[in-house]
Amino acid sequence: MSEKILVTGATGKFGRELVRGLLANDLDVKAGTRSPDRARELFGDRVEVVELDYHRAETYDASVQWADRLLLTPPPFDPDAYETLRSFLDWAVASGTRHVVLLSAMGVDRVQELALWKLERQLEEVGVDHTILRPNLYMQNFGPGFLAEEIRNEGRVSLPAGSAAVSFVDVRDVAGVAHQALVGEEHFGLAHTLTGPRALTMTEAAGILSEVTGRTIRYQPIEEEGMRTFLEDRGWTEGRIETALGLFGSIREGARAPVTDTVSSILGRPAIPFETYARENRGCWD
Ligand SMILES: NC(=O)c1ccc[n+]([C@@H]2O[C@H](COP(=O)([O-])OP(=O)(O)OC[C@H]3O[C@@H](n4cnc5c(N)ncnc54)[C@H](OP(=O)(O)O)[C@@H]3O)[C@@H](O)[C@H]2O)c1
Repeated sequence: MSEKILVTGATGKFGRELVRGLLANDLDVKAGTRSPDRARELFGDRVEVVELDYHRAETYDASVQWADRLLLTPPPFDPDAYETLRSFLDWAVASGTRHVVLLSAMGVDRVQELALWKLERQLEEVGVDHTILRPNLYMQNFGPGFLAEEIRNEGRVSLPAGSAAVSFVDVRDVAGVAHQALVGEEHFGLAHTLTGPRALTMTEAAGILSEVTGRTIRYQPIEEEGMRTFLEDRGWTEGRIETALGLFGSIREGARAPVTDTVSSILGRPAIPFETYARENRGCWD
């Protein structure tokens, strides 16, 4: 009988790719989400959807009691992710989950007070088979959201990223690696840093977007304070803003530039280049 796999954060950028890939292989998967209606829109009736909110322990049982394996998605930029997910993780392990794949992030090992770093250590201590994925920034961050809006309206990408390069990874490659980790045992105990095939400065990324759209799109480096104001205006909490600014600091220091060959060695094909992502998603920036 096939393993039962619970994907948390199922409607997120990563979760939806993973669920689709698992379903395409006829695996036994449940989609855990705070938005069951949205999940049904995305996946139709091909998957059982369970309501799951890390902040509501009464939603835990319906998802974890069933699962042999768990893909754990921390909420993005959540400075309290460790406290929030720790109880969910303990609950899952106590309920019989035997393997946990954690969606962490590239470079968390550099800043040991980060919630994701503490979660990684917790996972090692909790006494369950586990795999840690540390992807670099997704190419899909240029897709629907505030960056795409600015590109469409202003022909500009404004970020406090300095002139450093980033080895963006396509989220489909991250989902592909997670898929492999969830269906076998060979990734137990491993931590994988996942990047795209090459590092691009924001100016180079904007140049590729210009080429595929036929419009001029330029990168505008901004100060950290500009980003802070932008996020404050969107109602972000101080803690989330600090976490996001920490990420941009690590980009400016060059910590997001290294390239690994982990995606290609696990998937047996080259990692998806930014040019391919951009061509396939041209419509986002028209
Ligand atoms: N974006 C990147 O470039 C990137 C790169 C490397 C690592 N990561 C890591 O990946 C993680 C997810 O980031 P993302 O960019 O993929 O975000 P995302 O697209 O917003 O997906 C995150 C998902 O987490 C789920 N979630 C949020 N709060 C929750 C809660 N209280 N209870 C249950 N589920 C909750 C939501 O799923 P539902 O809406 O379905 O409930 C949400 O869609 C983050 O920890 C981030 O550090 C992201």
